[in-house]
Amino acid sequence: MRQRTRPIVALILALAAACAAPQERDETPPTADSLTVARARDAAAALGPDLMGLLLSQLDRGGPEAALTVCVDSAQVRTARHSVDGVAIRRIGTRVRNPVNAPDSLETRLLAYLAAELDAGRLPAEFTEVARTGADGTWELRYLRPMVLLDRCTACHGAESEIAPRVRTLIASRYPADEAVGYRPGELRGAISVRVPLPATQ
Ligand code: HEC
Repeated sequence: MRQRTRPIVALILALAAACAAPQERDETPPTADSLTVARARDAAAALGPDLMGLLLSQLDRGGPEAALTVCVDSAQVRTARHSVDGVAIRRIGTRVRNPVNAPDSLETRLLAYLAAELDAGRLPAEFTEVARTGADGTWELRYLRPMVLLDRCTACHGAESEIAPRVRTLIASRYPADEAVGYRPGELRGAISVRVPLPATQ
C-alpha cells in the first residue's frame, strides 16, 4: 500500500505545481548594465539642477509668490523635456501637491524604504531596482534619487505659519487637493523617479 501511494502523491504534487504556474514566463530579471544605470542617473542629474536653478533664481528675484507662479507653469513642462530616448522621468512626493506626481505602488514602497534609511542616518544618493512595471509587464530599470527638504523649501512646503498667506491662497486655487505641506527641513520630501526599459531575458 505504502509503495503505491508514493508515486500517486508525487503525481498529484507535479500536477498541482503545473496548475499553479500554467504558462509562466521566465521570471529571472534581466540585469541593468552600467550604461542603462548611467542613462537614468544622467537624466536625474540634469533635471535636479534645472528645476532647482529656476526655483532658487525666482525665489531670490521675486520671493515665494513669484517663484510659485513659475513653478506652477514650468515644473511639468521642464520635467517632460528630460524624458528623452526612451527614458521616462518625473518627480514624486511622499505627499503630493500635484496629483500627477503621486507615486505608483513600487515608488510608494521605495519612498518608505528611503525614509527609513534617512531616519537611520544612511540615506543613499540613489536607489535602483529592476521590476516588471513596463507596458505589458515588460522589465524596467527603476531609479530613484531622493530629495530632502531644505530650509528654503518651507516657504511652500512647510508648516502653515511658514507659508505667506498670499502663497497659501495661490496654492489652494491651483492645487485644491494639496497635501505637500507640513514638511520639516531634513525630512524626505520625495524623489526624482526614472524608468528605463530593459530587454527581455528570453
Ligand atoms: C515657491 C514655492 C515652492 C518652493 C519654494 C518649493 N516648491 Fe516644491 N512644489 C511647488 C509647486 C507649485 C509644486 C507642484 C508642481 C507641479 O505642478 O508639478 C511643487 C512640487 C514639488 C514636488 C513634486 C511632488 C508634489 O508634491 O507634487 C517635489 C518633490 C518638490 N516640490 C520638492 C521641493 C523641494 C525639495 C524644495 C526646496 C528645494 C521645494 N519643492 C520648494 C512649489 C514650491
